[in-house]
Amino acid sequence: MTRAVESPAVQAAAADTDLTGATAPEHVFSPAQQEAVYRAIFERRDMRHFAGGAVAPAVMRRLLMAAHHAPSVGFMQPWRFLRVATRALRAELQALVEQERQQTATALGERMDAFLRLKVEGLMDAAEVWVVALSEGREQHVFGRRTLPHMDLASTACAIQNLWLAARAEGLGMGWVSMFDPVAVASLLGMPEGAEPVALLCIGPVRHFYDDPMLQQQRWAQRTALDDVLFEDTWGQPLSAGGTAGSGRGD
Ligand SMILES: Cc1cc2nc3c(=O)[nH]c(=O)nc-3n(C[C@H](O)[C@H](O)[C@H](O)COP(=O)(O)O)c2cc1C
Repeated sequence: MTRAVESPAVQAAAADTDLTGATAPEHVFSPAQQEAVYRAIFERRDMRHFAGGAVAPAVMRRLLMAAHHAPSVGFMQPWRFLRVATRALRAELQALVEQERQQTATALGERMDAFLRLKVEGLMDAAEVWVVALSEGREQHVFGRRTLPHMDLASTACAIQNLWLAARAEGLGMGWVSMFDPVAVASLLGMPEGAEPVALLCIGPVRHFYDDPMLQQQRWAQRTALDDVLFEDTWGQPLSAGGTAGSGRGD
């Protein structure tokens, strides 16, 4: 599938490096390297269908190393990764997810039936399942978190995204499952007081990657137009024409 690398964003990025003249050439990735980065970004999908198989330990370690090189608030590195090694434990996690799926369905009201038709996890089919959690003792970290304590979660999300992109580059699918009661998962996995699970990651070989987000394919939601999420100076005010082409104000 080549659609992603031909996207306007890639073309814009390429045009930028041609036009600005401000970036030292040695800092710019080669076109092939840029294409690879954007390809990983655009072809990454949240996967819920897996083909079984295995992830070689060396590959899994590379993915975890990519995650561990994510940015973090105050260099806090609040992420912890726990491998689910036994099928019995996977089944227990899956049961907790199923409980929450039913609760979510009830909470959705009129969209309940449509929601229940969606596949929201591939826990029993993925080659690997890893739980990502926020570490205990996070209250000691104030740098960058005094007014925004949830920056620890933001940092951990960056780590998960790194892992997701690296997995895509390795040809592996990943699904982020967040439908669970964190207290129940923490207790099942023996987490200390203050630690908090934020993701069950299903990782492994897939038969194919969805061309579009599965929730879009299933008409649950559509990608918002980029221009609808870009403002200038005041909330709600659309970006002026120069805004994404380089306005000369700090870019
Ligand atoms: C924080 C977070 C939690 C998510 N939790 C779930 C989940 O519990 N079940 C699920 O099927 N997908 C989950 N997803 C995946 C999203 O549904 C998916 O990212 C979105 O539909 C866009 O699709 P894409 O990732 O393929 O671009 C989660 C994604 C994020 C970022």
